[in-house]
Amino acid sequence: MSDFFDTPIARRGTGCIKYDRRPELDPFWVADMDFASPPEILAALHQRVDHGVFGYAQAHEGLNDALLAYLRDRRQAVVPLEHIIHLGGLVPALSLAGRAFCGPGEAVMTCTPVYPPFLNVHHDARVDLITVDHVCQQGRWGFDWAAMERAVTKQTRVFLLCNPQNPLGRAFNRTEILQLASFCEAHNMVLVSDEIHCDLILDEGATPHYSALKLPQQLARRTITLLSPSKTWNIAGLGYAVAVIPDDSLRRRFSATRGHTLTEINALSYYAAEAAYRHGEPWRQSLLGYLAGNRDALVAFIRNQCPDLTITPPEATYLAWIDARTIGVENPATHFEQRAGLFLSDGAYFGWPGWFRFNFACPRAKMLAGLEKIRAALP
Ligand SMILES: Cc1ncc(COP(=O)(O)O)c(C=O)c1O
Repeated sequence: MSDFFDTPIARRGTGCIKYDRRPELDPFWVADMDFASPPEILAALHQRVDHGVFGYAQAHEGLNDALLAYLRDRRQAVVPLEHIIHLGGLVPALSLAGRAFCGPGEAVMTCTPVYPPFLNVHHDARVDLITVDHVCQQGRWGFDWAAMERAVTKQTRVFLLCNPQNPLGRAFNRTEILQLASFCEAHNMVLVSDEIHCDLILDEGATPHYSALKLPQQLARRTITLLSPSKTWNIAGLGYAVAVIPDDSLRRRFSATRGHTLTEINALSYYAAEAAYRHGEPWRQSLLGYLAGNRDALVAFIRNQCPDLTITPPEATYLAWIDARTIGVENPATHFEQRAGLFLSDGAYFGWPGWFRFNFACPRAKMLAGLEKIRAALP
């Protein structure tokens, strides 16, 4: 199967953000993969396209069945269909949660560095944002509980969690998620758990995912869990996600806030999602093996060839979070753009200037060539 992932696919000129936004640069930025989706997804899409009619769509029975089976078997959560809200993407759900559960004078809280929309959705609700830095202890990123207790206010209504964490690559464990949910309970906050990367844990035996869906009922009733097949099976451009909201009143408020602000969901995305959840597991296993190999090669390269850069090996995602504060340039992403022609994600957008994020979901040879350009452009 490694042939599949090793084979480059030309993406320039296909209307893709990653390659076509700055065609002059070699891209390792936005979180999608340079791999084709599994054949089962392509077959499902072909079949739906061949029908020829693309009127307004709703989730069909096959998707609902596949989704509930996925939640039961892979996330160990028995979820009734009524708890599920289908969405055309996950970021709008973060914004909806802010608008649904926060009002004037109130605040959203999150920990940094984090996926940039987490730092911006509070603007939609016109509320405040409180951020607390994650901390690295014994080579592992975690929460700074004491700082979070100091930062939280009586007006803080929503906590935005990213688990697995983008860009840190941590898959938070049961103890951490229980502690976070208890923190939300103690301060009367809704816990919004973005788990879009949960099927991308590179060694699931060593660092299993602990979903907010598994929290005891008392804590689960204040949770909104957001999931999507989009990252794992590389179908982000089709736009599809789900929110699981166990509490009736929370679910009603969330849905009511949606109003007329979201479009109908793409008819093709429903079929791609069904195929991903129903048939995608063997392909996902191969993908994880390949990405783990890339992760190991990347970490070895940075540590051996670029000793001024620092990396903590990610447990999950295909994103590497690299500390470049010691190389003496003001903005590492700009530096590597100008000196090496690379398109990287600037840490400043994640709340931490001086760092950058490198996407390693590409053929290994391409990844190593990109890393070599970084090495050669080090000051
Ligand atoms: C943590 C996280 N949430 C959400 C998204 C995007 O979700 P969507 O494309 O469904 O809006 C990403 C994409 O990189 C992500 O990393």
